[in-house]
Amino acid sequence: MEKQWNIRWFDETDSTNTQIINDKVLLKDKSAYAALFQSAGRGQRGNKWESKSGENLTFSVLFKPEWIPATEQFVVSQIITLAISDYMLEKGIKVKIKWPNDIYVGDLKICGILMENTIKGDKLAYSVVGIGINLNQKEFCSDAPNPTSIALQTGRVFDTKGELEIVLRHISEYYDTLTQDDFPQIEKRYLDQLYRIGEMHKYIDCTTGKEFSGKIVGIDKTACIEIEDASGKVRSFAFKEIKYVL
Ligand code: BTN
Repeated sequence: MEKQWNIRWFDETDSTNTQIINDKVLLKDKSAYAALFQSAGRGQRGNKWESKSGENLTFSVLFKPEWIPATEQFVVSQIITLAISDYMLEKGIKVKIKWPNDIYVGDLKICGILMENTIKGDKLAYSVVGIGINLNQKEFCSDAPNPTSIALQTGRVFDTKGELEIVLRHISEYYDTLTQDDFPQIEKRYLDQLYRIGEMHKYIDCTTGKEFSGKIVGIDKTACIEIEDASGKVRSFAFKEIKYVL
């Protein structure tokens, strides 16, 4: 049976990730905090996440997937990015997943995700997934180099609160029935949807600062990206060790 979402809307807060992490012990599995405006929205790599008040979806979901082994925690990123890809397709937008969890339309970013997991023993105790979907915003003045939005892609304007319900429904479709038997199939769908897979592109190895050409060939057991360089050598990179040259 489908488990209901427990949703709380804020007119304004610092960061829905920060708030839901503060309340995580008392909240139930499948809680969501959403804000019309975040005064201190947080992005990946310590960046800020900027979003015009009331125009976009900025929300965080909390899962308590105590059955998921810590070594398999990347599956949460995978189901969320697949659910958002399905949501975008429903809007008529074809997207790709830029490893580990950005959502791209061509070379433009339409959604960013900030995962903050808590491990207890060898299991995933809490998974907080912060999601910023560019919905109605048409002008971006932040440092983000390549933003787009659903409105820019479709020429339509959407009701923010209504759209949250729809995205959460897509997430439920993956999460509610998820078992360990589904992991291989989820992995396959994630790879099928991966931005730049099998294509030659340029990257920067952040450990040396050197640019190189290579093609993404997979994701390893620790969720690092595997890139085959021009000499045929396959190299694995963790999130902070690689930058895509766009
Ligand atoms: C990224 O840098 O791409 C990740 C952006 C994540 C932004 C979302 S908005 C809702 C949630 N609250 C935050 O402070 N950050 C995430």
